[in-house]
Amino acid sequence: MAAGIQPRVLVYLGALLARWVAAGGPYQLEVNISTTGSLPNGTLYAAQGSQVDFSCRSNSRPSPMVEWWFQAPHSRNEPFGNNLTVSCFTLLLMSRNLQGNYTCSAMNMLSGRHRKVTTELLVYYPPPSAPQCWAEMSPGLFKLQLTCRWDGGYPDPDFLWTEEPGGVVVGSSKLGVEMLNQSQLSDGKKFKCVGSHVVGPESGASCVVQIRSPSLLSEPMKTCFTGGNVTLTCKVSGAYPSAKILWLRNLTQPEVVIQPNSHYLITQNGQRSTLTIRNCSQDLDEGYYVCRAENPVGVREVDIWLSVKEPLNIGGIVGTIVSLLLLGLAIISGLMLYYSPVFCWKVGNTFRGQDMNDVMVLVDSEEEEVEEEEDAAGVEEEDANEREELPKEIHKHGHIHRVTALVNGDVDRMGNGLQALQDDSSEQQSDIVQEQDRPV
Ligand SMILES: *[C@@H]1O[C@H](CO)[C@@H](O)[C@H](O)[C@H]1NC(C)=O
Ligand SMILES: *[C@@H]1O[C@H](CO)[C@@H](O)[C@H](O)[C@H]1NC(C)=O
Ligand SMILES: *[C@@H]1O[C@H](CO)[C@@H](O)[C@H](O)[C@H]1NC(C)=O
Ligand SMILES: *[C@@H]1O[C@H](CO)[C@@H](O)[C@H](O)[C@H]1NC(C)=O
Ligand SMILES: *[C@@H]1O[C@H](CO)[C@@H](O)[C@H](O)[C@H]1NC(C)=O
Ligand SMILES: *[C@@H]1O[C@H](CO)[C@@H](O)[C@H](O)[C@H]1NC(C)=O
Ligand SMILES: *[C@@H]1O[C@H](CO)[C@@H](O)[C@H](O)[C@H]1NC(C)=O
Repeated sequence: MAAGIQPRVLVYLGALLARWVAAGGPYQLEVNISTTGSLPNGTLYAAQGSQVDFSCRSNSRPSPMVEWWFQAPHSRNEPFGNNLTVSCFTLLLMSRNLQGNYTCSAMNMLSGRHRKVTTELLVYYPPPSAPQCWAEMSPGLFKLQLTCRWDGGYPDPDFLWTEEPGGVVVGSSKLGVEMLNQSQLSDGKKFKCVGSHVVGPESGASCVVQIRSPSLLSEPMKTCFTGGNVTLTCKVSGAYPSAKILWLRNLTQPEVVIQPNSHYLITQNGQRSTLTIRNCSQDLDEGYYVCRAENPVGVREVDIWLSVKEPLNIGGIVGTIVSLLLLGLAIISGLMLYYSPVFCWKVGNTFRGQDMNDVMVLVDSEEEEVEEEEDAAGVEEEDANEREELPKEIHKHGHIHRVTALVNGDVDRMGNGLQALQDDSSEQQSDIVQEQDRPV
């Protein structure tokens, strides 16, 4: 019996042994992840939004159970898909949260042996918007700093600055910042920055800056009254990068930069600067002022002449002179009337003798006008008419003659003569004309 049992046991054990021996592997694990590229350290990367195929193969008897595990950064390792027994799968749209370590493990269910392979997969994405570039004055050093920014991508892009046109390389860096000294700069020159990203557009993305020296606009001269204030204005246009604006006095060489204090007020609003000089004084403030605008591309200066004057009341001066002249004229006329009526008569006579017809015609026509207007519009209008006529010298002489004639006959009038002339000579004359009209 024992012999009968023994073979069965042996067969069973033999079968077990045979299965044990037959259960091979898993041997080599073949992990294949179809991605955009790989890094020198073996890490793979895929572009965001792209499709990634994963496959894992292994030789084993019987076929192994294959599982994929995923570990996001700073997270626990978790099975990727429940009890995934297929060895291949595809991620259609890679997103940032799918970046991490992918582990394929294969287990021989018979022998319980297992193997696993871990692959790091990074998800790259280019910056979402176009690069931006600008030029600025480097502080301290009088150099031009070119800066190119292209933020928001992973990993960081590379930058290449070139001169345009021509493409002469200025520099390339991860930072995007280049320093240029003045010998490399000229008005209107262009510089181009090309940003390149490992999963960005193939030709890169670019921006261009054009540097310009400043232009100045200002008034050439200004006037200030002693004790008053004056504001000089200086406007910069076209400067790129923005110009530094300085105010100077050129009293000495080199010129002196004006520092703001209680006397000088300097304000700058964008590329427009004003210099206000308070309490102007001729000794201190009259002269040339210089507005200087400078950027690394160029320097421009403009001279402004400031003249300081005493405050004058021009109206008062003119009025005084006119009054004095009138007074003098009146006094002379009065004296002439008083002392030498004959002289006056003679002057009148001589004049009339020279050009009697003309005078007569003019006087006559004037008197006719006066009569007509008196009828039509009355005395006031007639007075106005007389005043308008006054500047004509010929009339004056004609009237003087008549005044003399009347005064000679009327002693009372003579006393009033001087006073009347001073007050308003034209009024008196028109009176006389009226009086004379009646006898004629
Ligand atoms: C491989 O290189 C990339 C980029 O330099 C880095 O982010 C990553 O951590 C590296 N991976 C390993 C495992 O060292
Ligand atoms: C993948 O694993 C390595 C090793 O543990 C780790 O250094 C690395 O940061 C991980 N990568 C990611 C993307 O989590
Ligand atoms: C996979 O399935 C088996 C049985 O079908 C189950 O016992 C096991 O817990 C499952 N594993 C996971 C991770 O869901
Ligand atoms: C300006 O830069 C160029 C190129 O970088 C260099 O050859 C030159 O010597 C520099 N000149 C000065 C004055 O620094
Ligand atoms: C000049 O400016 C000062 C300060 O702004 C002001 O106090 C003063 O009244 C100004 N003088 C004149 C004449 O406008
Ligand atoms: C100041 O500038 C003016 C105008 O350019 C010039 O005529 C004058 O000589 C300069 N004065 C000095 C001291 O340099
Ligand atoms: C204005 O200037 C004069 C001399 O330049 C000075 O005597 C006077 O005190 C100043 N006035 C003011 C208000 O600063």
